Amino acid sequence: MITRSIGASPYSMARKTDIVDADGLDQSLKMAIYSVYDYGIVSGYADKTFKQDQQATRAEAATMTVRTIDPEKRSDNPRTFNKDSLAYFDGTAGKAVLVAVSGQVYDFSNLDKWSGGTHMNTIKAGQDLTKEIMEDSPHGLYVLSRAEIVGTYVEE
Ligand code: HEM
Repeated sequence: MITRSIGASPYSMARKTDIVDADGLDQSLKMAIYSVYDYGIVSGYADKTFKQDQQATRAEAATMTVRTIDPEKRSDNPRTFNKDSLAYFDGTAGKAVLVAVSGQVYDFSNLDKWSGGTHMNTIKAGQDLTKEIMEDSPHGLYVLSRAEIVGTYVEE
């Protein structure tokens, strides 16, 4: 429900190690659960568990509601991507459309010009496009202000 209300797409591959009880999660709910982590709406328990079978307390439910409505209240959950984890988010099959530029990872999932992960018929998401946006694009960096930064990119 929360996932749908914020139009979230999960970048789940990046966060396997963040939820230690991830293996026990309901397959049908997995993507939604990863999304709420990715968007900082849920941060999990201190021992890195999600506890799928435990009911949320009133306080937890209120926190999730506030974070859904107000992005500024979301927990700071910056993801770190490398070449492999970024490559997964190429916008195909409903996956998020992520692109790295100058060490930051941007989410283009809601931008029409990047629908399905392809831009101008040739440029593909899921990779570092710093050189391309600076040297080949007619617009340069200003278009990045239309997208949210969702993590940092490290070359290995
Ligand atoms: C040869 C390379 C490229 C061409 C010809 C191109 C062309 C365009 C055009 C014509 C637009 C729409 C006009 C505008 O919003 O200013 C656009 C938008 C955009 N481009 Fe590019 N682009 C190129 C490369 C890139 C690269 C490498 C990136 C990312 C790293 C990028 C990111 C964007 C973004 C985020 C938008 C805004 C999309 C939206 O608001 O729906 N572009 N591009």
